[in-house]
Amino acid sequence: MSSYLDRIGAGLVLSQPEIFGFDYIPDELVGRNDDQKQLAGMFIGLGHKDGASRAVVTGPVGSGKTALVKRFCIDIVKHLSDKRNIRSVHVNCRNASTSSRAIQKIIQDLDPGHPDRGLGVSELLTSLRRMMSSDNSHLIVVLDEVDHLLRKSGDDLIYRLLRIDEDTARRGTLSLIMISQEQVLDLLENAVISRMGRTNHLRMKKYDEAGLFEIAMQRSDIGLVKGSFTEEIIKLASQAAAPSGDARQVIELIEGAAKRAEVSGRSQILPEDVQSTVVTLPSNVDSLDIEGLPVHCMLLLLGICRRLKRQEFVTSGEASKLYQVVCEEYNQSPKGHTTIWKHIKRMMQNQIIETRTDQLDDGRGRTQHISMPHMLPSDVSRRLETLIPARLRR
Ligand SMILES: Nc1ncnc2c1ncn2[C@@H]1O[C@H](COP(=O)(O)OP(=O)(O)OP(=O)(O)O)[C@@H](O)[C@H]1O
Ligand SMILES: [Mg+2]
Repeated sequence: MSSYLDRIGAGLVLSQPEIFGFDYIPDELVGRNDDQKQLAGMFIGLGHKDGASRAVVTGPVGSGKTALVKRFCIDIVKHLSDKRNIRSVHVNCRNASTSSRAIQKIIQDLDPGHPDRGLGVSELLTSLRRMMSSDNSHLIVVLDEVDHLLRKSGDDLIYRLLRIDEDTARRGTLSLIMISQEQVLDLLENAVISRMGRTNHLRMKKYDEAGLFEIAMQRSDIGLVKGSFTEEIIKLASQAAAPSGDARQVIELIEGAAKRAEVSGRSQILPEDVQSTVVTLPSNVDSLDIEGLPVHCMLLLLGICRRLKRQEFVTSGEASKLYQVVCEEYNQSPKGHTTIWKHIKRMMQNQIIETRTDQLDDGRGRTQHISMPHMLPSDVSRRLETLIPARLRR
């Protein structure tokens, strides 16, 4: 009998694989004390019978926004359990990107048997209000990755959730937390912003190497066999993840390295396990500095991305025409060739695009072929379509 399956389940290195899953929320977050205090500060009112709060949490990919808010909801429900009946629902708006999908998800979470089919948003909101008042409870609604909802359905649902108690005798039915990587406030109308409160905004920073080290250490202590890793290994992984500042990346690296060690039949993770895992990491659109680009560079990149959705590469000549079309769309007068070329060079240096120089077929000279091997042009253009209007408004 072949023994090729022997190593599955041997548990040489990974003692609790689920610790490395994305759903896992540690009992204690590391290094986010100040952020936790700031968020708690926005929810001071929740201790009172009719209190309700609002918060917006923004920060780069993998900065721990979801983990922080999920931890907070679990903790606050427990903390206030003898004062108030609090419940929370977490909606990921990437999967529920329209108003009706999002409100359906909220209702389904609270009452899986609720007959919501065919009901409109208004009726569902009424059901929600009834549900909360029937057992006199308070609901914390978390809209995670809310930019997806805002782009598709606008902020109508948010506005209505914020007004849920208006024209009723009840107060303090619902608190709202919105989470997004982007400057989500740019997508909100003033009426919503003023209801959310401009100061209720927690901005999380990306992790530095030391922060990633602490997170990786915490996971490894819980999830790996004692003695299977050294501090050096954790350091190596945090160094590799430091440019992105993405906690998910460092966790993935440790998990990948642990699996490699196990597959090789070792009970110790070696540096090469980490290194071979590093090269498999996809470069992430959000770890690239797109927000820091000058606005005309963004316009140029948007033109390029739109074409790269359908084509493997664009020539520099095409890029400059595409740029002019985008400029027209945004009412901007296009810059000249020297500036375009400067932006192309900058994006090459930042590894946003790659270029290859080719002889033209007709022998008339050379041209640049621009491609985007590190990320999906559709992701980048979606991001630019939010960033550009915000930048032009400033
Ligand atoms: N301070 C921390 N302590 C322990 N684990 C953390 C901490 N911050 C993040 N993590 C872990 O890192 C991973 C990524 O964090 P999280 O999903 O919260 O990031 P995010 O900011 O929501 O990212 P995205 O913008 O992609 O949604 C998760 O597994 C999370 O549990
Ligand atoms: Mg998240």
